[in-house]
Amino acid sequence: MRFLCIAVNRTVQHAPAWLPAMAIACIVSAPLHTQAQGEPNSCTLQATEAGPDADLYCIQLFPTPDFTGTHGHATLDRVPSPFGTRVSRDGHHEFDITVTLRGLPELSSLGDYTDYIAWATTPLLRPMVNLGPVGNGSTHLGRVGFDKFLILITAEETIDLPSYQGRLILRGISASMRMEPEDLLPLTGLVGNRGPRASSWMPPAPHPLVEMMPGVPDLRPSVTTYTAETRDGHVPPLARPREILTLPDGGTLDLEAGLVTRMIDGHPMTMFGFNGQYPGPLIRVTQDSTITVNFRNRLDLPTAVHWHGIRLDNQYDGVPGVTQPPVNPGDSFRYRIHFPDAGIYWYHPHHREDIQQELGLYGNLRVDARDPDYFSPVHHEAVLLLDDLLLSADGTVPMPFGREHATHALMGRFGNKFLINGEPEYHLRVNRGAVVRFFLTNASNTRTFNLSFGEAAIKLVASDVGKFERETWVDSVVIAPAERYVVEVRFTDAGTVPFVNSIQSIDHVYGNFFPEPTTLGHVFVRDTPAQPDLATSFKTLRTQKDVIADIDQYRADFDRPVDHRLLLTLAINDLPYPLETLINLDSSFFNPVEWSSTMPRMNWVTTADQVKWLLRDEDTGQENMDIAWTFRLGDRVKIQVRNDRSADHAMQHPVHIHGQRFLVLTQDGIPNDNLVWKDTMMLPVGSTAEILLEVSNPGRWMLHCHIAEHLESGMKLVFDVRP
Ligand code: C2O
Ligand code: CU
Repeated sequence: MRFLCIAVNRTVQHAPAWLPAMAIACIVSAPLHTQAQGEPNSCTLQATEAGPDADLYCIQLFPTPDFTGTHGHATLDRVPSPFGTRVSRDGHHEFDITVTLRGLPELSSLGDYTDYIAWATTPLLRPMVNLGPVGNGSTHLGRVGFDKFLILITAEETIDLPSYQGRLILRGISASMRMEPEDLLPLTGLVGNRGPRASSWMPPAPHPLVEMMPGVPDLRPSVTTYTAETRDGHVPPLARPREILTLPDGGTLDLEAGLVTRMIDGHPMTMFGFNGQYPGPLIRVTQDSTITVNFRNRLDLPTAVHWHGIRLDNQYDGVPGVTQPPVNPGDSFRYRIHFPDAGIYWYHPHHREDIQQELGLYGNLRVDARDPDYFSPVHHEAVLLLDDLLLSADGTVPMPFGREHATHALMGRFGNKFLINGEPEYHLRVNRGAVVRFFLTNASNTRTFNLSFGEAAIKLVASDVGKFERETWVDSVVIAPAERYVVEVRFTDAGTVPFVNSIQSIDHVYGNFFPEPTTLGHVFVRDTPAQPDLATSFKTLRTQKDVIADIDQYRADFDRPVDHRLLLTLAINDLPYPLETLINLDSSFFNPVEWSSTMPRMNWVTTADQVKWLLRDEDTGQENMDIAWTFRLGDRVKIQVRNDRSADHAMQHPVHIHGQRFLVLTQDGIPNDNLVWKDTMMLPVGSTAEILLEVSNPGRWMLHCHIAEHLESGMKLVFDVRP
């Protein structure tokens, strides 16, 4: 931990108050010593099976030299949230801090002190947050939202101090402070190797704010390229915006996947589309209806259509090799889809999603409830498909794909052009006071969004397979690939409200976090008042008795023992040496969620034959497609899912289960007090969730990570449901 002194030293240029900063950081850097003398790591001791990983979510506190008999730790517990992770509107991860201390001496023995106080602060020692008095034993201290932080315990003469003045007793640093640039500099001399056919690849643009890792610039993926193009040289038709197709019970739809020309920021690009549209048609049906879709494949790749989240007849689930043969170029397939659940769903290919979904093959399905009062009254409804497309550095063509295997296998293909309903800029015009219901779907390959509408309060209403038990207010919506959220927003004042993705990214080279907000669109609010006035109904948070009554039938199973334990992890074979070294060094810390691609090259060159993402059954040791779970119709299965912090490049995984619905009962040991039926759940690094799977639909179904490149890198299993 020597480097800590140096690290703080570097920031000194910007920090006039550098002397105390140096002093404390260097004091903090002493502890390895103390630990080496045989004091057990109390973080590891308090770790539980269902809790978060102790290495990332616990801070061991080390005594200053005069207090060697004192010990403790601070746990960073999950702040309850309807989402897989808890972040502020601007994207800072928030944790609930509890400090456990022992061996604190009598205050009177130290001098004129009245209280022990806990503090949280950043490496710059400001702001300094007084977390309140502490003593021997456990004290719950509340919420902290720093990316990198120190916890200090001091003895003080009064309680209400703005910053500490007394004696420093214990101190510790968050795992996020382990990432420091000095560790990486010795690697500057490393050179990369070149893959075959290096000339046909165009390297991705570097992140505008982050330097490239040393040793990486010469690397190329070890696969050949695939790009969408016509083989006979004719230009595909210009794509049209999506149509809304309202289908009656028994209705039929012809759906064709083919090449289109897309205009993005004035550049024509050859991409894929359903029925020549972007996104595919918005299919609107009523709950309990059945439709037929005659699908034809006009692409040069095999494909199929998966109807994500719908508990349909297994033979129409659209998974090549599991529920049907692939639909080869020129071939067709007839799907019959029954819609038992109201909500917002989507459809996409289930073969090389990393290519096909990225190039535009996705569309929404909206299933209207039979109950006309299912949702509250609103002035407008908007169905938004969110995506990020990866374009070449000059923004003129989509980046080529790996032909034999997916590229970007480590972190997934983060895009550099944000698209809402296929357009780079989203606009909505409403009257003042209008209430809008947004149906949000994340169709990106890997990106998790943190969405907000200016400062507006967001009412969270529903998710994947129906409504929450209770409507709640949120500042922002965290939505991982394939998840859906339904929210309502009231635009109270005339003016322009930005629709923003606000995240904190990591500079892996310098070990810093930095804000990376992106404006995805605008809502223009006119001065004319919206009619009727919905202010009162908007203010009311509904309790959904129908949802609660439905879930009541499952509560007796919430405490049953875990039936299966699944570990999400990674095996790396044969990455170029500089890359593997960098990944190892970087693994001292992981952000709970990889929000952005700040190492685009390093990620790009990893292919699905070098990186194996794994679902491992922790009881049998079986992995991915070797796992053979069998259930009976009507079973309620409790599955513990753990995201391995010690994987070589751990990151969040949106875990999706086909053909059924599930409840996320607990996350990191904290029970979820506002349930909703899900088909996709985002699990951050080092986190553990327990889910209750309702086995309601017979057949062979897939469970997989919905990061397209992780799925391509093996992260999937199939389970059988016997009637
Ligand atoms: Cu959205 Cu297995 O898929
Ligand atoms: Cu994944």
